[in-house]
Amino acid sequence: MNPEIEEKFGPRKLEDMWSHVLSYHPFKPVLDRAEGIYLYDTDGNRYIDVSGGPIAINLGHGDKRINEAIAKQLEKFAYCHPMLSSQPRAELCERISQITPWDLNTVFPVSGGSLAVETAIKLARQYHTETGNDQKYKIITCHESYHGMTLGALSAAGGPGSQSKFMPYMHPWPHIHQPSSRPPAGMSTEEYAGFCNYELEEAIHYAGERHVAAFMATPVSAGEDYGFVAPKEYWQKVREICDKYNILFIADEVVTGFGRTGKWFCMEHFDVKPDIMITGKGITSLYAPMGAVIVSDKVNEPFAKGAAFVHGFTNQGHPIACAAAKAVIDIIEEDGLIENSAEVGSYLHSQAERLLKHPIIAGKRGIGMLMPLELVMNKETMEFFPQGAQAEQKLQILALKNGLVLYSTLYGPRRPAAHKRGLPVFVFPQICITSEQVDDMLDRLDTTLTEFEAEVGV
Ligand SMILES: Cc1ncc(COP(=O)(O)O)c(C=O)c1O
Repeated sequence: MNPEIEEKFGPRKLEDMWSHVLSYHPFKPVLDRAEGIYLYDTDGNRYIDVSGGPIAINLGHGDKRINEAIAKQLEKFAYCHPMLSSQPRAELCERISQITPWDLNTVFPVSGGSLAVETAIKLARQYHTETGNDQKYKIITCHESYHGMTLGALSAAGGPGSQSKFMPYMHPWPHIHQPSSRPPAGMSTEEYAGFCNYELEEAIHYAGERHVAAFMATPVSAGEDYGFVAPKEYWQKVREICDKYNILFIADEVVTGFGRTGKWFCMEHFDVKPDIMITGKGITSLYAPMGAVIVSDKVNEPFAKGAAFVHGFTNQGHPIACAAAKAVIDIIEEDGLIENSAEVGSYLHSQAERLLKHPIIAGKRGIGMLMPLELVMNKETMEFFPQGAQAEQKLQILALKNGLVLYSTLYGPRRPAAHKRGLPVFVFPQICITSEQVDDMLDRLDTTLTEFEAEVGV
């Protein structure tokens, strides 16, 4: 047990060990119930869910409308035999196609983000084999990207952090740099984004145009530059390059979809249509496990003409998850949550100044209800705390004390040593948050940062 955690929360009791899930569960509070933006522990303490769980919960907790939709479905049937038509799945797919932009009309629901990524990779591959390009199989992705934990998704991820122990299972897919808020010296962010476009074309050249099936990327940068929003022109150029070489563009909207950035999907901000869109997390706001791949009419054409997609999971399009996702979409519309995400999201960004004045906050990025802060030890040198300092845990412990639950990603230890970049602190509240609640959350974050500075001696 970490002595510091033990000091704050007392000794761990046997019932707190959670060893059956293999993970070390570091923090004492046990969740009792959740409502709106708040989480309540078994001792009656209230916390704001600052990061929307694992940057995933877009709607408020405990929404009775979703609970009722799930209960209603459960009363009918929990699972639909694969040989029978599933009405909940059909209704959800139709509902999704109503809210997706462009001709992203066909939906393949699965049961999580990583499985959606695997599905998209296989779909891109099979699209090409069905259309006479059976040598196209490589997926180009970005350095420092993250697309999930299954082996295909890990191959696509562009950092050694989560991959290192599993390397022999990884495909050596090409990686390019993603646009950055801190371009190399002498370059503007726009020029660097242009360079990244150039790198995409170069990677296609070296990987062999006839071998590249797709370029997959998240609409906002991942990794150490989490949340950076590249200029519109960057995405427009990506689209142009993909079209030029018959390469599918896959947008991974697992985090950014379903209202997180102030639009249904983040690619709408750039007016750039992906061929395949990957979703997860916010699709059910974690009321049930789900992900979905949404494809354009072009990609669906060979399948619509009869090609069978060689794919499937027992839990794909599970009726309970479909009922939850449909209710989520209805609530986002009924409660005007896309508008709230945009308006209160702008307010959130406009109020961030009081956090940016802290000597340990090097900047903020993002759009809408997605605002990662960059935590550093020293703003001048951009050094991060040494690993032994357990800075991330210290911050989370202080946050808990101040009524905030912050998601950790261990980006600090994962960060390449040569890169002078901080740790993303995920300010990703529920998209139903009010401006008064934003003020309260920021006050508490402000206090947490001040106390953290005192504790680490900055
Ligand atoms: C961009 C992105 N893609 C895919 C995934 C994988 O989703 P899941 O954890 O539901 O498998 C994640 C998870 O954080 C993600 O951030």
